[in-house]
Amino acid sequence: MYHGGGLACEGVPLEEIAREVGTPAYVYSAGAMRARLREFHEAFADRPALFCYAVKANHNLAVIRNLARVGAGADTVSGGEIERALAAGVPPERIVFAGVAKTDDEIRFALSTGVLQLNVESVPELMRIDAVARELQLRAPVAFRINPDVDAGTLSKISTGRKGDKFGVPFDEAADLYALAAGLEGINPVGLHLHIGSQITRLDPFAAAYRRGIELLRTIRAAGIPLRRLDLGGGFGVRYKNEEPVPASAFAALVQGLTAGLDVELVFEPGRALVAEAGALVASVIYRKESGGRRFLILDAGMNVLIRPALYDAWHDVLPLAEPRPEAHLEPMDVVGPICESSDIFGRDRYLPLLDAGDRVAFLSAGAYGSVMASDYNSRVSAAEVLVDGDRWAVVKPGLAPSRQFADETIPDWLAAGPEGD
Ligand SMILES: Cc1ncc(COP(=O)(O)O)c(C=O)c1O
Repeated sequence: MYHGGGLACEGVPLEEIAREVGTPAYVYSAGAMRARLREFHEAFADRPALFCYAVKANHNLAVIRNLARVGAGADTVSGGEIERALAAGVPPERIVFAGVAKTDDEIRFALSTGVLQLNVESVPELMRIDAVARELQLRAPVAFRINPDVDAGTLSKISTGRKGDKFGVPFDEAADLYALAAGLEGINPVGLHLHIGSQITRLDPFAAAYRRGIELLRTIRAAGIPLRRLDLGGGFGVRYKNEEPVPASAFAALVQGLTAGLDVELVFEPGRALVAEAGALVASVIYRKESGGRRFLILDAGMNVLIRPALYDAWHDVLPLAEPRPEAHLEPMDVVGPICESSDIFGRDRYLPLLDAGDRVAFLSAGAYGSVMASDYNSRVSAAEVLVDGDRWAVVKPGLAPSRQFADETIPDWLAAGPEGD
């Protein structure tokens, strides 16, 4: 963790980046991201699969590119994400397009781009895809996202595969829906998709969902619809605190067992698993203050930069950038942001040295669902993003000053003149 007295990302001290780029700043290890993908590729060496990186986890072009160069495709949920994946160099035939509700424009864009498959979540959406495909005189390759009614055993706010969740089509209606789809001129049913949630750290929910998906695939094939692809989604958990994520090899063994003798192309959509642990958020202390019997460490990063703690009560380890001396006294303190919201708290009673204004800390495992969920709330300088690769590093998105954030806002003519008075 600490090298030469300070935290580093690969060969680069975080202090050096913070000094040159300013804070808050997200710092990502390109090597760690590639290593995670390599683990999946190696585990699945005997049962090749396409790993479509779920770009929603971190959509920075450099991050997508770094993974695409070593074989990742992209799992996208909007036209904008498809644009990002293409801009980062992902070939269209490695892009899957999911998402709860695709607009006509997005469907048209995806189809004319030639993405691998559209994952359909409802009958009205199927009908729109059919209409747009016919207009373009092609057949849309689709997979239904089925809801297998499996509890992923993760936080309710990131569970997606239980009956009554808004995602996918009901398991018991799926066979009829495939029959409907097969009869539509603009639709080519090519696969079956499922995804039951995120940050899942046990194997059994995956096993239950995969089993149901494979059972359904066999049923649909038996009904004469030759589905060739099984997209088993993402959701692989990572370590934030003391979780013990399932290794890629265990997934590979599970999938190999379940698909033995089944001739089917496999797709997975890992997001968090590829990028979360490869990223840190670096922030500086603005003030330390005592109030109401508590000690607060107030940082220049808040829920505007990293919303996961406020949104999901998520845990991120917080470490000082400078390695504390062995004899340093650690004190409990509430690590908070500067945003005017009571929920702008990263963690209570974190044991840290008595840091002062200007000292820096890093939030670990912040590479996924961090920068992508940032906002301009409270108009503070946004977080820069930095990619480190060995001892090279580059700013891959600058932090924007508020004046850049409101640069495209306009005041209408009728308000532009001086005060009107009543
Ligand atoms: C359809 C789909 N695939 C993949 C993912 C990626 O999930 P994770 O980042 O947990 O791997 C999500 C996340 O919400 C999703 O909705």
